Order: sequence, then structure tokens, then C-alpha cells
Amino acid sequence: MKQENPLGLKKIHHIEFYVGNAKQAEFYYRKAFGFSRIAYSGLETGNRETTSYVLRQNRVTFVLTTPLEPDHYASEHIKLHGDGVRDIAFLVENADKAFEEAVKRGATPAMEPHDLSDNFGSVRRAAICTYGDTIHSFISYNTNGHNYNGVFLPGYVEQRVEGENVGIQLIDHIVGNVELGKMNYWCDFYRDVMGFHRYITFDDNDISTEYSALMSIVMADESHNIKFPINEPAEGRRGKSQIQEYLDYYKSPGVQHIALLCKNIIETVSKLQQNGVEFLRVPDTYYESLLDRVGKIDENVEDLRKLGILVDRDEDGYLLQIFTKPVEDRPTLFFEILQRKGCKGFGKGNFKALFISIEEEQRRRGNLL
Ligand code: FE2
Repeated sequence: MKQENPLGLKKIHHIEFYVGNAKQAEFYYRKAFGFSRIAYSGLETGNRETTSYVLRQNRVTFVLTTPLEPDHYASEHIKLHGDGVRDIAFLVENADKAFEEAVKRGATPAMEPHDLSDNFGSVRRAAICTYGDTIHSFISYNTNGHNYNGVFLPGYVEQRVEGENVGIQLIDHIVGNVELGKMNYWCDFYRDVMGFHRYITFDDNDISTEYSALMSIVMADESHNIKFPINEPAEGRRGKSQIQEYLDYYKSPGVQHIALLCKNIIETVSKLQQNGVEFLRVPDTYYESLLDRVGKIDENVEDLRKLGILVDRDEDGYLLQIFTKPVEDRPTLFFEILQRKGCKGFGKGNFKALFISIEEEQRRRGNLL
């Protein structure tokens, strides 16, 4: 058992984004995506280097961090990548052991294990590097006499600004884009270092159009609660792969999209659209043949068509999904909103329709051919 979870990962603790203006990004994720602010760190709390807002909706926690000085590392990160994901942080049984084991298994250290403490107690934290400039922090409570009763992590004060919950529940998967030829390298990294296994593989026949293609392997932990698909561009088509477009603008591998699970996608996407979140759309003809392809579903097809929600089925059930447009000016990070009704897949039956619509956006940006 231990071998199957060699780092003692428990769950994703939070995702930290480095952004150019955390105050405005916080407003966007709160007002548009329905998160609530729960904690804050900045000048008023004695943090002279960065300002961070902690946002939460049900079991999803985001941290938005902006540097206050040009020579802070986050400033370099933002200069190179624009706004993006810096850290996919895990809650682990023991941060020291997770770090030690990961490094022994070949990971590059990003942050040595150290204490973080304030009046509410202390935690241990360490971090390793993954693709691009992305890191995985390991955070542990309840180890070696450490425990923490504060609202988030030491250094943050509680600061509540309620958002209007749209029903986002949980992170389903987080996708990384890596360079051509590097997909297997990073899949091996997640296997060898973190004890993950290959869950699903998509080749360029699954994910191709006339213009472009990509390849993808989904890596998962033993419980399948943590799923990290790794994409790479595929060659030999007429146009530029959407993965290559991402790499050109992010200037390195990085997180392409975060899939957020909800329980009622029609309600959640209706609210998100009312809040102004922009989604990709497939042609209406998609809905004409929808039921022939996926069979009987509980939802009204007209409701799905109005909102632009896609459906796919596998042997275990079906899923409903929709993708936002990139949430920055660079065509980099976007979000997926997802509801699973038994289906464990990733929407393979929608790839074609979806990628034609992504290419249309790429073409408008002058980045397809
Ligand atoms: Fe996805």
C-alpha cells in the first residue's frame, strides 16, 4: 500500500497563481466564478514581499499572489509567463518525508522542508519542481508536534468577503502542456516520483483535426482522486497545435486547464454565463446528432444547446462539460466545468468538435497557420 502512495499524498491542498494584480484577479474569481475570499496576506499583515488572497468554493482553494517588488521571483515568473499557475500544492502526511522520498526518486528540490508558523500554530512545508516553472508544494499538519488552527496557512489572516457560490465543488483534474517529445518524460516523472499510473492514453488519432493534433496521457494516483493529464503537441498537420500555441505564449510548459466538478452543470454554467464568464461554443449542428451519439440523458438538449454544454458517454455513464476561453490575454490557462454521471472519461467524443472551435479561436488570433 505504502508503495502505491510513496509520498503520502492526501489531496490537493490549493492551487497558487502568480498574477500581475492579485486585487483585480481576486475580484474576477469572486464575482465571475463565485469564490469567497477567506484569507489575506499583505503589507497590513506584515508581509513586505507579496500580497495573496485565498479564495474558496466548497472544496476548491485558490491562492492569488502578486509580488510587491520587481526583484521578487514572482515578478520574473509573471514577466516570462504572464498570469499562470505556479504551485499545485498537496496536503501530505509528512512534508519532510514526502520531500525526502521525492528527491530520492529523482525530483528536483524547489524548497527545502521548513516550518511556517504564527499565533495559530505551525505547519511543515517543502516543494519540488515539475514541468516548466511549476512546483508541487508538500504541506503537512499534525507531524512532529506541528498543528495549525488558523483559517488557511501561517502568515494569512482571516478575511471574509462572500462570493455568490455557483456550485463549483472539487478539482477533477489539472492538465499540463509540455513540449513536443516530453510527454512520456513527464508521465514517467509522475510514475517514478509520485507513484502515479497511466490512467488513459489519447494519441493523435483521437485528438486531431485537419489542422492540428495533440497527444495526451492521463496520470492518476491510486485512488484516482488526483488526475494530471499531460499533453504534448503532435506534428504533421497543416496548422499549429493548440498546445504549441500555449507553449509559444506561456514560454514554457505549464498548466493548461483546471477542470472543476459541479453537481448541476446547467445551474452552474447559467450562473457563470450571467456573471460574464466566456465559454467556447461548438456549432449548433452538434446538438442535432447528440442523442444519437450519447443515448438517453436526464438533461434537456435545448438547455444544453443554449448554454453550449457538451456531452460524452463511456461504458460507465456520461459526462457533461464546457470550456472557458483563456482567462488571460495570452492564450494560456483556461477552465473546464464538468459534471460526471458515472463516466470516468475526459470527453473523447467531444474532442473533434471542441478542437475545431479552439482552432477557430486560434485562427482569429492569427496563430493557426
Ligand atoms: Fe479536461
